[in-house]
Amino acid sequence: MKIALNGFGTVGKAFAQILIDKAQTLQKEFDLDIQIAAINTRTRGTLFNPEGLDLSKVLAQSNFTGMADATQTAFKDIITHDVIDVVLDVAPTDIQTGQPGLDICRQALSAGKDVVVASKGALAVAFNELQEKAQQTRSHLLYEGSVMAGTPAIRLAKQDLAGCTITEARGILNGTTNYILTQMETGMTYADALQQAQELGYAEPDPTGDVEGWDAAAKILILSAALFGLQLKLSDLDVTGITQITPEDIAAAQAAGERYKLVASVTAQGGSVKPIRLPLIDPLANVGGATNAITYRTDLMGDVTLIGAGAGPRQTGFALLSDLIDIHRRG
Ligand code: HSE
Repeated sequence: MKIALNGFGTVGKAFAQILIDKAQTLQKEFDLDIQIAAINTRTRGTLFNPEGLDLSKVLAQSNFTGMADATQTAFKDIITHDVIDVVLDVAPTDIQTGQPGLDICRQALSAGKDVVVASKGALAVAFNELQEKAQQTRSHLLYEGSVMAGTPAIRLAKQDLAGCTITEARGILNGTTNYILTQMETGMTYADALQQAQELGYAEPDPTGDVEGWDAAAKILILSAALFGLQLKLSDLDVTGITQITPEDIAAAQAAGERYKLVASVTAQGGSVKPIRLPLIDPLANVGGATNAITYRTDLMGDVTLIGAGAGPRQTGFALLSDLIDIHRRG
């Protein structure tokens, strides 16, 4: 399986390291050999080798210029090259425009390539358009990493709960804000907790989108399309972040046996993201740190709650791997 990878920040690098670490296991357990043939970055140049790049060498370089596989070929021409099977997008995307990932997804799917994204913008803006394009060209579009990193929130809903009718999804879908709220409960300041979340690789390059609720909102747009076939816009959602929550608010909730959580929810009628004081008996109230959780309300199973990592380079790198294994199994 030959991959063209857009983005080589913390997630792209972690994914490359996972491929090195898991090469033997993938071969043995799945008869799967994944080669990254191209890597495209915004600031460090582009690499392309139809035989597959030497990932150990690539990881050791801070800049691609001067490397034997460095190329001036535009990435849009590389992703349509015969040798490429799957195009991966892990670069930050603008959740208003979906770019630059949206054009990459369009080009790749139009050329009949399978597409795996961990970025959110393209799907938040154009989920239905991209799914239709994938159907037209009989390609796969998988996006497990766009919601709750490698914790299989999408696969649980779309595959394991298939046959149930899901009437609501409600969850903690942003690791940065949950980390901040949890640390504030121990007395840490908001600013220190945010800085730690950035250092640990949970926050977006501009954390405003995390703390003001827009990252969770983008995930709600993806879920609203994936679960209910809606194509909502950010402006359709009721979004409030955590920036107005004070240490006094947190203490008051604690005194009442409750916890503040940034709860994102969606039904067929629409969605919202807002801080809510949850009683401790709610499973979402007991999810701490960068961990995420989602509760699907279903007709046949009642509530099904999934808890796991919601952010982090290696955890998101695993999401990419899980989608590639899924594509491989589909044949
Ligand atoms: N910034 C995001 C978060 C990363 O904190 O959850 C995962 O989408």
